[in-house]
Amino acid sequence: MQNLTIAFIGSGNMSRSLIGGLIANGVKPEQLFATDPDNEQREAISKQFNITALTSNNEAVAKADVILLAVKPQVMHSVVSGIANSIKGTSKLIISIAAGVTLNSIIEWLDEPAAIVRVMPNTPALIQAGAAALYANEHTSEEQKNTAEAMMRSVGTAIWLDNEGQMDAVTALSGSGPAYFFYFMEAMEKAAIEMGLSEENARLLTIETAVGASKMALLSSSDPAELRQQVTSPGGTTEQALNTFMEGKMEELVQKAMEAAKQRSIELSQSFGK
Ligand SMILES: NC(=O)c1ccc[n+]([C@@H]2O[C@H](COP(=O)([O-])OP(=O)(O)OC[C@H]3O[C@@H](n4cnc5c(N)ncnc54)[C@H](OP(=O)(O)O)[C@@H]3O)[C@@H](O)[C@H]2O)c1
Repeated sequence: MQNLTIAFIGSGNMSRSLIGGLIANGVKPEQLFATDPDNEQREAISKQFNITALTSNNEAVAKADVILLAVKPQVMHSVVSGIANSIKGTSKLIISIAAGVTLNSIIEWLDEPAAIVRVMPNTPALIQAGAAALYANEHTSEEQKNTAEAMMRSVGTAIWLDNEGQMDAVTALSGSGPAYFFYFMEAMEKAAIEMGLSEENARLLTIETAVGASKMALLSSSDPAELRQQVTSPGGTTEQALNTFMEGKMEELVQKAMEAAKQRSIELSQSFGK
């Protein structure tokens, strides 16, 4: 990414986290541009990172090798149509992080084939602990794929998908996933308070337990099922709790919840494509 110029269309949360990650990884502020219709957003991003913030998306596109689309899915149609002429006949790489917006929709709005990588990031990218999935179309070169991957790796981990259809499953897993863990932590914290712990202690122990378990799962060569078995002594306390989860069909419930998220992702994709 040494000599590439990158335009961020939309100066919200995601653009800010990605720009922070890129600068922390050695990208120079002079390589980066951001746009936003809102004066305050432009001033904020320009001040925070010492980068040029512009009103005109087309001006930013003209300056850049890579265009990162970081606007809400609902405005993608008008944003992409608005920059189509500046992209025509160029070999610029387009990266879209807009949830649910398909490559076909973007191509249709551009009215010309282009190198596009679709990415599903997640909220922990805001603290450089994201998990992103990427899918590139056939017009994207290996070098452009490496660029997209390196950009997402600057704010966490990144994997490639075999087909775009898998994006809906990714949305149900890592996209919506942080909220599932927050919900579980919320329930554990409430139960601990019911059992007599202070709110402060219950919260700290819940969060640190989640961090510790995640780190063990990440660093261990054992899979989560093995790790669970290793900490479950027959007749012990953990076994009692796990039996209760199993009696309540926890696994089935998780499957049902993720299937519901996936179906919603498919529905939203269909509506954003219009
Ligand atoms: N945040 C996440 O964790 C997450 C996870 C997965 C995917 N995503 C995707 O990432 C994208 C960005 O999310 P975000 O959280 O960064 O949203 P955000 O904070 O709302 O940022 C979007 C920015 O784009 C600006 N904008 C609106 N119209 C524009 C235009 N025509 N040209 C240039 N900028 C324009 C918005 O300005 P106004 O506010 O003035 O409209 C806003 O500042 C979304 O498509 C979302 O689906 C986000």
